[in-house]
Amino acid sequence: METTDDRRPCDQVRVRVPATSANLGPGFDAFGLALTLYDDLIVTPGGSGVTVEVTGCGEGEVPLDESHLVVRSIHRGLEALGATVPGFTLRCENRIPHGRGLGSSSAAIVGGLAAAYGLAGEPVDRERLVVLANEIEGHPDNVAAAALGGFTIAWTEGESGRAIRLGTVDGLAAVAYVPDNRVLTKEARGLLPGVVPHGDAAANSGKAALLVAALTERPELLLTATEDRLHQEYREPAMPESLALVHKLRGTGLPAIVSGAGPTVVVLGRPDGTSARSGKTAGQSSFRGAPPAPDGWTRYDLGIDPVGVQVWSMEAG
Ligand SMILES: Nc1ncnc2c1ncn2[C@@H]1O[C@H](COP(=O)(O)OP(=O)(O)O)[C@@H](O)[C@H]1O
Ligand SMILES: [Mg+2]
Repeated sequence: METTDDRRPCDQVRVRVPATSANLGPGFDAFGLALTLYDDLIVTPGGSGVTVEVTGCGEGEVPLDESHLVVRSIHRGLEALGATVPGFTLRCENRIPHGRGLGSSSAAIVGGLAAAYGLAGEPVDRERLVVLANEIEGHPDNVAAAALGGFTIAWTEGESGRAIRLGTVDGLAAVAYVPDNRVLTKEARGLLPGVVPHGDAAANSGKAALLVAALTERPELLLTATEDRLHQEYREPAMPESLALVHKLRGTGLPAIVSGAGPTVVVLGRPDGTSARSGKTAGQSSFRGAPPAPDGWTRYDLGIDPVGVQVWSMEAG
């Protein structure tokens, strides 16, 4: 196996790209967290057309032609790199559920763009990856975490997506409660008001700043730091069960938030229930008491992915 640092075209490119949770409560359109749940892509150049095979999430649902989101993203990446690959076979092994707020669209985009770097024989430029992925996705929060890993803060400068990555406190993990039903991001965005009360905006600014501290060094503050007043409640009509679960979990001291545009609910914390500073038990950062998934939901116990999308250029064989 060779890495893409060799800067020459290859026979097969493999990509592993993480699921992501965005917003995290008060960090609307800015905060992202990469999770240890992955889609794998295997791209084999050859021929003159595109063949797509999908197993796992989205199998039998996503298109298998040039309109497939990964294929579109590979083409966009190749175009940006000035590279040409006349044809390829794309195999997708998907584990990130679609339309649930765990960043499946961002994983598809970031994975496709990263594959283009591999096909072009170029090392991945993660800053540029965020710019290109944001252009396709339309908002930078999930793509930033998928590209950089860890906890990311994203913003736009002019039209360009930008992001920084911060490490998370040791042992941080997430429980994701994923319902069987979907909510499309477009639909959830349509429920947000054009104007919000100044007091709500002010409260969110403070909580967003506090959440940076909570995720990086003070997990015992996660419950208060994940309070949101800008988006979650407005989206309640599209996902009443999710808001009910958030309220129930928070009522028992667990820092629960709506993941991205929902309907997945994520609890953040450290499974061992110890605080970062003292090592003493701190209820708010503990998963102790995180209940099993309700009927019609699936519980995923996940870690934080530290590195973001990974690319390997292989000899075919
Ligand atoms: N791995 C994938 N391959 C192809 N298309 C995908 C993939 N992941 C997501 N998509 C497309 O994106 C849609 C889901 O995007 P979105 O509504 O933003 O939900 P999510 O929160 O999962 O990102 C899917 O219905 C599908 O059209
Ligand atoms: Mg999405």
